[in-house]
Amino acid sequence: MKAIICKKFGPVSDLVWEDVDNPVAGKGEVVVDVRAAGLNYPDNLIVQGLYQFQPERPFSPGHEGSGIISSVGEEVTGFKAGDRVGFFKGFGAFAEKIVVSASMVFSIPDSLPHRIAGSVFMVYGTSYHALVQRANISKNDEVLVLGASGGVGLAAIDIAKSFGARVVAAVSTKEKAEVCARYGVDDVVIYGEKRLDKDEQKVFTKELKSKSVVGGFSIVYDPVGDCFAEPALRAIGWGGTYLVVGFAAGKIPSFPTNLMLLKGCAVSGVFVGRFQKENPKTNSKNLLEIGKMLANKSLSPTISETIPMKDAVMAIDRIAKRGVVGKVVFIND
Ligand SMILES: NC(=O)c1ccc[n+]([C@@H]2O[C@H](COP(=O)([O-])OP(=O)(O)OC[C@H]3O[C@@H](n4cnc5c(N)ncnc54)[C@H](OP(=O)(O)O)[C@@H]3O)[C@@H](O)[C@H]2O)c1
Repeated sequence: MKAIICKKFGPVSDLVWEDVDNPVAGKGEVVVDVRAAGLNYPDNLIVQGLYQFQPERPFSPGHEGSGIISSVGEEVTGFKAGDRVGFFKGFGAFAEKIVVSASMVFSIPDSLPHRIAGSVFMVYGTSYHALVQRANISKNDEVLVLGASGGVGLAAIDIAKSFGARVVAAVSTKEKAEVCARYGVDDVVIYGEKRLDKDEQKVFTKELKSKSVVGGFSIVYDPVGDCFAEPALRAIGWGGTYLVVGFAAGKIPSFPTNLMLLKGCAVSGVFVGRFQKENPKTNSKNLLEIGKMLANKSLSPTISETIPMKDAVMAIDRIAKRGVVGKVVFIND
């Protein structure tokens, strides 16, 4: 089989598409013929050695995908060759085949095309877990989403709207705001493409607050961090929940704790990888619900590009350069 291979940590341009041995299913594992694999932010970090864990080299990047099970190892129950499935694994999806623990495989509805099934469960799973388990979202909430046109951002908008919440999207450009508008967001804030200094952060806080009908959001969803995080926390309302999702803008922010005291708010961490391991039953229920909502079209992911896997290398770089809207998916014919 062929795969995108990282031989040593370095720039994305060092990745190669080449022949490797077919994987074999061990105890509790399945081999999946990969039909589609989604690009996620960590795929760019992992090949540079900048992610939370560092696989043995050589390895293939790729956190998630979908396809058809071609073989199952000993002690696998619930799956058989020929099943259509989605899967998560920290790496390995940018290949023609992957071996993956059966515990990280899930069934997908027949009506869901692979290019969707293989590319949206990571971002929808993250945003669903964040909004449902961490923030207990309801139709009464007012949700501010930063980095709103990216993978997890658009998923957060889509899910929050499906709950009937009021949603304000914050993005860097007018073009990105237009993407969010298609999801029926109630208002938009454009924060520009540069980092904000202290004075600009104060202006940003005021602008955010002015977009809330009650002067403060009940949920803030933040996958961006850096200089955007504190203004967003300052725009939260009494008793709200600030969701720490990621740091796409670079720096990990820190907050004065008096802000939490004054607002009676919670700052709540979101780590979907750990959640999948610690709470597998709730995670399975989430994925089932997301699958149903995708199949009946009550959720509408944006797949902005579909690229043959063999040509995918340079697209991996684009996600670190703010160049991706919604999801990019790599496909094997
Ligand atoms: N906690 C979890 O379990 C979990 C799960 C999945 C992803 N994440 C994290 O969530 C973050 C976003 O992931 P994603 O898949 O949504 O990525 P994405 O599609 O690239 O979206 C990230 C957004 O961040 C904004 N951004 C601001 N400054 C940026 C910069 N300097 N470089 C790149 N983007 C910048 C961009 O929007 P604007 O241009 O509009 O600012 C971009 O659309 C990442 O840090 C990722 O690791 C966390």
